[in-house]
Amino acid sequence: MWAVPGGTQQNQEDDDPMEYGKIYCVDDDPDILLLYHAILTEAGHDVVKITNGAKALETIELRLPDLIILDEKMNDISGMEMCARIRANKALPYIPIIMVTGVDSKEGKIKSLEGGTDDYMLKPFDHEELLAKVQVMLRIKRLYSELLQTRQDLVKAEKLAAVGQLAAAMAHEIRNPLSIIGASVQFLQSKLESNDERRGIMDTILRKILEIDSTIRELLMVARPLNLKIEPLDLNDCIRDVDGFIKEKCLAQRVTHVQDLFSPMPKVSGDREHLQRVLLNLYINAINSMPRGGELTTRTYWDPEIGRVSVRIQDTGEGIRVEDLSHIFEPFFSKRAGGSGLGLFVVKMIIDELRGTIEVKSEQERGTVFTIYFPYTKNEKPLKASNAVSDTDKTGERSIH
Ligand SMILES: Nc1ncnc2c1ncn2[C@@H]1O[C@H](COP(=O)(O)OP(=O)(O)OP(=O)(O)O)[C@@H](O)[C@H]1O
Ligand SMILES: [Mg+2]
Repeated sequence: MWAVPGGTQQNQEDDDPMEYGKIYCVDDDPDILLLYHAILTEAGHDVVKITNGAKALETIELRLPDLIILDEKMNDISGMEMCARIRANKALPYIPIIMVTGVDSKEGKIKSLEGGTDDYMLKPFDHEELLAKVQVMLRIKRLYSELLQTRQDLVKAEKLAAVGQLAAAMAHEIRNPLSIIGASVQFLQSKLESNDERRGIMDTILRKILEIDSTIRELLMVARPLNLKIEPLDLNDCIRDVDGFIKEKCLAQRVTHVQDLFSPMPKVSGDREHLQRVLLNLYINAINSMPRGGELTTRTYWDPEIGRVSVRIQDTGEGIRVEDLSHIFEPFFSKRAGGSGLGLFVVKMIIDELRGTIEVKSEQERGTVFTIYFPYTKNEKPLKASNAVSDTDKTGERSIH
């Protein structure tokens, strides 16, 4: 089972000035490695001891460290050679390197820094100096990663702004003629006898017009800032409303919708129309993933311990491939013929705006579960909190159609 949170990146706690990291110590002297291990693990770091250069290069490619402490003289590959190879490997991100040497020479230091190391330390080293240097390097590494992330976010934001402008212009140009086509087809349909087989063809045209209109509305959502009308909402009510919209599609595709709705349920802060859009997108995706029928389950839950409301939407469909899982919330990512790839992007946008979180777990050929966690509206207590029961033994409303 593979799982990803729906986006938000984890930041280091602001009130903790210490930097902790995964440090690879590379030295062919096991005693020195033991010393590094003792000092650095006591300070809270995660230390990996590596006894030769070849093994170190292999390990770095498998799992990236936050810092490398490297012996200058090793039997197989010298520290300088290792450093050159790490810096030459464009697939690797920036990793700080502290070179450790037994020879105190100015030329050596300069050569090492010019060769791509970030700092230099003499053996035998003072453990406080080691810890201080490690702190500086880890701080630089964190700042560098944050800078990279900000740059990626900026590029993404620029792309979205361009898409937004384009979408707004397109929407205007397409929606007007589309509504005229729709009205005209409806008019023609009204002139046909009730048993005329052309009615079916016109129904298809009207359905496709609605699909195009819905895609354009989603594009517009990306284009404009969301204008949410926040109010206390009954999540179970929203689910019942949206269930009405998908009844026919479920029936046509032999999908059973099981609703396991927790009661009593506190209200959540939300915007009815947008919340319905979130549910509808998740439902349609789930139904699309079950072309041969299956079960769609919606479970709401209120956790009295942490005071949080959640809704879990589960299907028994084809699942999502692990390599796709981290992309499904990106705009225009779609694996469905005719899909625009905006559904989950809009879902995530709305949930972010509501300050909630969304998570997905999926297993191929077994199904997918999306869970949305809402921030709890503190003044909206459930009617009888003492009635709250656990996720497994609750006696909430359960309905199947
Ligand atoms: N419940 C699910 N089961 C399997 N795959 C899913 C599920 N939900 C999403 N996906 C995958 O994630 C992709 C992106 O979903 P998203 O809703 O953003 O776009 P879409 O459904 O392809 O198009 P649309 O914009 O019309 O919704 C889908 O194409 C599908 O491959
Ligand atoms: Mg979709």
